[in-house]
Amino acid sequence: MVTTAILGATGLLGRALAPRLLRETSDRLVLLGRRDDALRAMARDLSSQHGEARVESRLADASRVEELVEGLRGCDRVVLALDGARHLRTVAEAALAARVSCIDPLIVPGRLALWRELTERHRERGCWVVTEAGLQPGLPGVLARAALEAMPDARALDVRAVLKIRIPPDLAMPSSMLDLVAAFTETPKIYGGGRAHVAWSALLVPYRVARFSPPFGRYALAVSALPELEALALCHPEIERLRFLVGGFNPVVNGLVLPLLLPLLWVPRRVFHPLVARVLFESLKRFTRPPFGAALAVDARSAAGARWSLELQHDDEYGLTCDALVALLEHVSRVPPAPGMHLMSELPPPRAFLDRLARLGARLSPTG
Ligand SMILES: NC(=O)c1ccc[n+]([C@@H]2O[C@H](COP(=O)([O-])OP(=O)(O)OC[C@H]3O[C@@H](n4cnc5c(N)ncnc54)[C@H](OP(=O)(O)O)[C@@H]3O)[C@@H](O)[C@H]2O)c1
Repeated sequence: MVTTAILGATGLLGRALAPRLLRETSDRLVLLGRRDDALRAMARDLSSQHGEARVESRLADASRVEELVEGLRGCDRVVLALDGARHLRTVAEAALAARVSCIDPLIVPGRLALWRELTERHRERGCWVVTEAGLQPGLPGVLARAALEAMPDARALDVRAVLKIRIPPDLAMPSSMLDLVAAFTETPKIYGGGRAHVAWSALLVPYRVARFSPPFGRYALAVSALPELEALALCHPEIERLRFLVGGFNPVVNGLVLPLLLPLLWVPRRVFHPLVARVLFESLKRFTRPPFGAALAVDARSAAGARWSLELQHDDEYGLTCDALVALLEHVSRVPPAPGMHLMSELPPPRAFLDRLARLGARLSPTG
């Protein structure tokens, strides 16, 4: 039996992922975190439905290597569901020491550089890392690859996403808001001709209006850098333009909060990040209106002007993230990756992966 650990199991992602993994796979779960009461209560609840043999909780603080190595003992792989920036290197070192492979859905800047730096050591220890996993990052790369599989002569590809989280009124700000705010400091990029370009036009005019199928409709989207699309563009220099556009914040956030607060993020030493995270979180909680969930679409165009498109929707953004992680874990159980670093979108056959998401509850629109 495969043993999968979730580090940061009591956070939003961990709590949504654990029951899905128990339901959809035969994995044994180890819940890792630093709050003993919360971990035990979660393990008790899950054991009552899935049996005690399949769930265990262990205390492990991600800032302490020895504690983490001990917590990871006997596990085959660990999903990093903690808020990431501060502890990623410690976690990576502990996983290497314990010879445990990693699934990394984090959005913190610098993650790829760290995994690249450790690639040789992963190979030596026979471990793999799958990074850029989940919804975003993750699914845009899968959609772009599905489009390229269906239209190999595509020359322009736009991947669009609208992400709208339903935030309960009593939810305290999750620490992962700081990861989101840190991600805003990345320069917007588009890809083409085998390389990345700074999207200067997006710096001048940040929003583009795009339409999604009902219930989502029209949204203002911003161009954003995405390493999985850069990797795809590098392998396909014949693609002239590959872009990722993302949105879903409400008009108050887009028109007021972000223009006023984003400049503060460039002050060195990140002093304003907690303030921006707090204002953003409270504005999202107060002003975001239904529909909630996620819609991702890809539009491909060939040199001859033919078009191909596909849209994926889900009623719950974290639900879709978890389904992507479940489908990925299923895939790596069937086809173990070679030791070293991989991007999620490069591993499973894209169309089969999207069909699996549809069976797990996503809506996949017909291709055009
Ligand atoms: N790729 C994607 O599509 C995608 C989607 C959603 C989220 N994410 C990423 O996934 C990560 C988790 O998101 P989230 O919303 O679940 O965050 P969250 O609700 O803030 O949860 C973070 C968890 O990490 C734990 N943690 C923090 N520091 C720790 C430490 N030193 N040792 C052990 N555990 C620690 C927290 O435990 P305490 O309660 O003890 O603080 C909490 O359980 C974030 O980086 C987020 O950006 C990615």
